[in-house]
Amino acid sequence: MACREHGKGRMAEPESIVARVIELIGQPQDLSGVRVLVTAGRTEEAIDPVRVLTNRSSGRMGIALAEEALARGAEVTLLAGSMDIAPPEGVRIERIRSAVEMAQAAERLFPECDVLLMAAAIADYRPAAPRSDKLKRHEPRITLDLEATPDVLAGLAAGRDPRQILVGFALETDSSESPVREKMKRKGVDLLVLNNPNDEGAAIGGDTNLVTFFETGRPARRFPVLPKREVAQRILDWVVARREETPKRRHRVGKSPARAR
Ligand code: CTP
Repeated sequence: MACREHGKGRMAEPESIVARVIELIGQPQDLSGVRVLVTAGRTEEAIDPVRVLTNRSSGRMGIALAEEALARGAEVTLLAGSMDIAPPEGVRIERIRSAVEMAQAAERLFPECDVLLMAAAIADYRPAAPRSDKLKRHEPRITLDLEATPDVLAGLAAGRDPRQILVGFALETDSSESPVREKMKRKGVDLLVLNNPNDEGAAIGGDTNLVTFFETGRPARRFPVLPKREVAQRILDWVVARREETPKRRHRVGKSPARAR
């Protein structure tokens, strides 16, 4: 393909080919054929044509999840807001900007996935009336009127197929357990991965994370500070175990839901 003698298209970079081969050699393909939807990165909410409201998420946790799922044989779709790093080759990628765009794309893609990994940092509020002209510097002080955005994860969970596995993240600066358990119920997820950006090793934008797993009926499980790729491994180990617990979940969602229910 590099010499343009065989087929159409572009050859992948040699580094990506080598990385993929190494992964395949030593890697159990325990998510082979499983359709995984990963949301990653940050949303941007327009204030005017040049300014946005956003947050400090780098997209690294979502990318690590996409890479790890890919290495285990999954078919990965990445629904991505703004990110500081490039997505891996081999994922299907859809780009969005705002929380509303994220909600619309997620609603479209969700019915076709077996596993949802919701790592995106989605704005909770957006300017109620974004301006079409650039805001001028006339006043010494101005006020931005904000309105709530849709809760994407809770909306998806409300219409889920019971065979789908949903993993959410919770970013809390207060790590006490009961609000996290409450958030897990409110969001309707099977696993909630908590991290506190004020903890050492869990700073937003860093290469490591310090997480605690919350699931219904089980005690919380806290991990040490780990590189984000290893956090992704633990999350996908949990997904694989969960799929094995419930054999029905092995069926692909969307084929014949009536029979599997
Ligand atoms: N999330 C979402 N839609 C939003 C905000 C967040 O789907 N509008 C998702 C995130 O992707 C994450 C989970 O919900 O998986 C929890 O996000 P977090 O920011 O911790 O919670 P919030 O919904 O913002 O709730 P709170 O402000 O009360 O902490």
